[in-house]
Amino acid sequence: MATTASKATSAARKAAAGAHKSAPPAQKSAPPAPKGIKAPPSTAYKIVDIPETYRDVIQRYAVPETFVSAEEKDSPWVPFGTNAAIRHLAFDVRHNIFSNILWIKSKGVVGTHKHRGTVVMICLEGSVRYLEYDWVATPGAFIYETPGLTHTLVTDDPKGVKLFGWLQGPLEWYDDKGNFVETSDVWWFMNHYETYCREHGIPLNKQLYL
Ligand SMILES: [Fe+2]
Repeated sequence: MATTASKATSAARKAAAGAHKSAPPAQKSAPPAPKGIKAPPSTAYKIVDIPETYRDVIQRYAVPETFVSAEEKDSPWVPFGTNAAIRHLAFDVRHNIFSNILWIKSKGVVGTHKHRGTVVMICLEGSVRYLEYDWVATPGAFIYETPGLTHTLVTDDPKGVKLFGWLQGPLEWYDDKGNFVETSDVWWFMNHYETYCREHGIPLNKQLYL
């Protein structure tokens, strides 16, 4: 349940954003399928050799795909506080990007923090919300936030939440009195993963390093 103050904040934000986020007029009936769209043109169950103008440079410079299986041997759950863990998926030091699954194991809070970059998240299991907003994310829900926003993550679900995140730019952590405590950037997350792997004799998975 959002507080009155958080609802007021959310309402004010929505009003300010209303100019470009207002809903289009309601349709009286379902619109017809768009005409002229030809994709996908093939459903053949085979690899098709397509023409490639820049095959040579692509073969020399393209970065191979990355794959991290769902197995813990590919990336373990690394404790994050007393009631949470992080499964690291990717580190991109060129763009200060880090991707992971945050697992809060039961009802709990991840304290107030400010993002200095873009946040993209999808709820995989359980439910989660921010004290600052008036929605609740359930499995399949999509969250997108721009740099500069501060929030306090809460799950009221007895089974907690699993959240996939693709985050660009550092997070700044604050204590419950609003005092700055620490910054977490791609180097912080990489160190979090590597320290745990070293202490537990787990080989580093090079697939995580983009
Ligand atoms: Fe956050």
